[in-house]
Amino acid sequence: MNRKNQITIENMPTLPYAIEEAVNRLRVNMSFLGEDVKKIMVISTMPDEGKSFVAMQLWRQMAETGVDSILVDADMRKSVMVDKYGLKKEDGSKILGSSYYLANDIKLEEAVLHTQYEHGDILPNNDNVVNPSILLENHKFEEMLDQLAANYRYVFVDAPPLNLVSDGERIGSLCDGAVLVVRGNATPKNIVKNSALQLERAGCPLLGVVLNRVKGAGGGYYYKQYGGYYGKSYGYGKGYGYGYGYYGDKK
Ligand SMILES: Nc1ncnc2c1ncn2[C@@H]1O[C@H](COP(=O)(O)OP(=O)(O)O)[C@@H](O)[C@H]1O
Ligand SMILES: [Mg+2]
Repeated sequence: MNRKNQITIENMPTLPYAIEEAVNRLRVNMSFLGEDVKKIMVISTMPDEGKSFVAMQLWRQMAETGVDSILVDADMRKSVMVDKYGLKKEDGSKILGSSYYLANDIKLEEAVLHTQYEHGDILPNNDNVVNPSILLENHKFEEMLDQLAANYRYVFVDAPPLNLVSDGERIGSLCDGAVLVVRGNATPKNIVKNSALQLERAGCPLLGVVLNRVKGAGGGYYYKQYGGYYGKSYGYGKGYGYGYGYYGDKK
């Protein structure tokens, strides 16, 4: 293994049981989607709904259960992954990342990082760029996803929000399906519906909807509050619903 690209994710949060369980259910459901579903985009309508959170936790659990998985950061405008999760290369060198890989002539192996999870690799973005559409439109992005899909069982793609630019649609058109994250009590239903339509237009099957950041009345977390959403599809396509709660202090 290439020790040079060994990193430690220093700030991986420990989730409360109910949330860990909800992620677990989502992970198990993934395996029912069949072996053709490998490239999975995690998307939402707006910023801050929890795409990166869901993508990261799903990837982490998948890797922990021994399934080769890679998390690709495709939010190249506003990624905070490296700082927020405390990604540090063991040799102290700079993390190159996804946008660097796409814009420069380096091998994918030079950019992919190995983490403390034996089966979990990661390709974060470390240089936010003003106009990543050019990078995403380039065939190199498509080839990168295909190359990764050939090497890992799952490629989880942490995407930018759908409402801003067409990046999400472009990424979705290259993936086998999408998990749509919806922030509980925040994202209006018609807007969520519109996102589902956008995915459909992009030819990206909606695999499921995650109701995230649901806050319980008591300020704690709330298993009961979101329990009712399990197994429902919200009426979008053939997807199925999931529930998540909220852990930690509300910002
Ligand atoms: N279920 C959750 N429990 C606790 N914190 C969460 C949850 N989902 C998201 N967050 C937090 O909310 C903020 C926004 O989430 P993030 O995943 O960055 O959103 P997005 O990628 O959609 O912009 C982050 O600080 C994240 O850690
Ligand atoms: Mg994000």
